[in-house]
Amino acid sequence: MSINSRNKSLSFIIIVSLLVSAIILGLWSSLTNPVPWILIVALALMPLLRQKHIEQIKWSDDYSIGIEYIDQDHKKLLHLLNQFSIAYDYAQCEEFEREALEELVSYTKYHFKREEKLMADYDYPGLAEHQEEHQAMIDKVEEYAHIYNEQGHDSLKQVTNLITFWLINHINESDKEYSRYLQQLGADEFDNN
Ligand SMILES: [Fe+2]
Ligand SMILES: [Fe+2]
Repeated sequence: MSINSRNKSLSFIIIVSLLVSAIILGLWSSLTNPVPWILIVALALMPLLRQKHIEQIKWSDDYSIGIEYIDQDHKKLLHLLNQFSIAYDYAQCEEFEREALEELVSYTKYHFKREEKLMADYDYPGLAEHQEEHQAMIDKVEEYAHIYNEQGHDSLKQVTNLITFWLINHINESDKEYSRYLQQLGADEFDNN
């Protein structure tokens, strides 16, 4: 565990201890005494006031490329990215963050393989270029995993924001482009194997 994480765990333990003490004090003194209750609310709001926050990304129908199982993959990728926001904002456990990152790496690879197979099945002419984009993304995600291993928790915000930005752009540009091509072929149902 890094010094940074240790400090965060320590401050978390202190906040929880103060919170518990305030509740006991509130119950012990008098339920009508407002001071302990103000203290409780202030302590409970402290994590929100740290302003170290990653925005959760909500799925929007604007991201749909019109192929159901690919949309499901993209939703899952956004969900995995949202796990980081939760890890970043609340979790004190590096193991949770590391597992979330590993799952993102492996699901990204799995999704890219599915897309590439779909494009190959329909002889999509932009396949090679699309594969290069995927490979660049895998390299980036692996590089970020390496940065995380070096810098720990503090790097998560930057890593998450960059991956999210890349993913949304890629869906809206490149994925929609191959989807349009497939739909122009008249194929309206796609095999999801
Ligand atoms: Fe995709
Ligand atoms: Fe793609």
